[in-house]
Amino acid sequence: MLPQNMFIFELAGSKFPLSLKVEGLTKFFGEVVALDGMTFSVPSGSFTAVLGPSGCGKTTLLRCIAGVETPDSGRIMLGNSVVFSSKDSVNIQPERRNVGMVYQSYALWPHMTVYDNVAFPLKVRKESADNTDSMVTSVLERLGIEGLAGRYPSELSGGQQQRVALARALVYRPPVLLLDEPLSGLDESMRRNVAKDLKSLQESLRLDTIYVTHNREEALWLGDEIIVMNRGKLIASGQTDSLIRNPPNAYTASFLGGMILFKGTLISRNQRYVLVQTEIGKLMCRSVDGFSPGANVLIGINEKNILIQSSDSAENKVTVTIESMIGIQPDGSYEYNVVAGGKRFSAVSKSGDLPNGATATLSLSASDCVAIPNA
Ligand SMILES: Nc1ncnc2c1ncn2[C@@H]1O[C@H](COP(=O)(O)OP(=O)(O)O)[C@@H](O)[C@H]1O
Ligand SMILES: [Mg+2]
Repeated sequence: MLPQNMFIFELAGSKFPLSLKVEGLTKFFGEVVALDGMTFSVPSGSFTAVLGPSGCGKTTLLRCIAGVETPDSGRIMLGNSVVFSSKDSVNIQPERRNVGMVYQSYALWPHMTVYDNVAFPLKVRKESADNTDSMVTSVLERLGIEGLAGRYPSELSGGQQQRVALARALVYRPPVLLLDEPLSGLDESMRRNVAKDLKSLQESLRLDTIYVTHNREEALWLGDEIIVMNRGKLIASGQTDSLIRNPPNAYTASFLGGMILFKGTLISRNQRYVLVQTEIGKLMCRSVDGFSPGANVLIGINEKNILIQSSDSAENKVTVTIESMIGIQPDGSYEYNVVAGGKRFSAVSKSGDLPNGATATLSLSASDCVAIPNA
């Protein structure tokens, strides 16, 4: 864990945050297309989480931005500088891009001490011995690991190795920090704390941070902005709260929003809500899009919001069959598998003794049901 009480480490010599632009980035490995025309931009000073399943191209994307992988086509801009352009045959060397990267496996050199690992990027950049010493000392102190300087990576815990990798990425004070699934090697109890520390580090250093993960929770904890990707393509991007509240497509609703989706046809709309005929009955739903009656839509509902109870105040009531109990939740409520409209999904009850095969009523508020385009 990083120290809670962080001071802003000396920023003299570091550059201001830059915006990052990626245009039409494509990378093949033989027949496999790892990146398929990725286009996005990251506002300067923001924490952007890139969320996608394993194998969707996240690491390849970061490696292309860092310059350790060469894309087949596209363009990458950092601030006003083009660091890669297939069209103009520009491919700036990694050490001249000023991008810090923390690799998923940390990639520390086992035969070097912590000090030498962290000093290495400065050696590559031909920094003087005096500067090297003060920069290494400052970053080790900043991350609370100055006491580990003489150790070898094999003598460190996972969390300590991660801080060393972070120190090595930050030592030359890059304005852009790329993090490849940095919490995946840590145990559950540390993940949340390290996430908080990363966030405060990013805020105090005003770094543009791109954080890739396959874990929805981490993306939601950390991302001011989220980019959802799948199979080398951008699926959605935007501010985290707006993507969660109004997912633009089914993939984002289920992968980021943890929603179950039902097919439906829009019946009518009033000023606040739309009424949709779905597989599980008529539902009153939120909608930002101007769907007209007759439109085919999907209704997304976060399973955490599906309650087994009959409440008069809820706009929507759905009849389901209890299939089985899944287990008890941290808040003491019980989660069940239920079936309606031929679909199985989970729902929560205060009661732990609902028998299998029984009929029950779900109450859903209209604000918890969102109409999504059915592309
Ligand atoms: N060096 C490589 N050689 C061949 N295939 C690769 C290489 N690196 C990645 N790939 C393939 O490219 C795709 C994307 O990989 P990667 O960027 O590592 O995904 P992620 O980080 O999202 O799990 C995968 O199908 C992977 O097998
Ligand atoms: Mg990866």
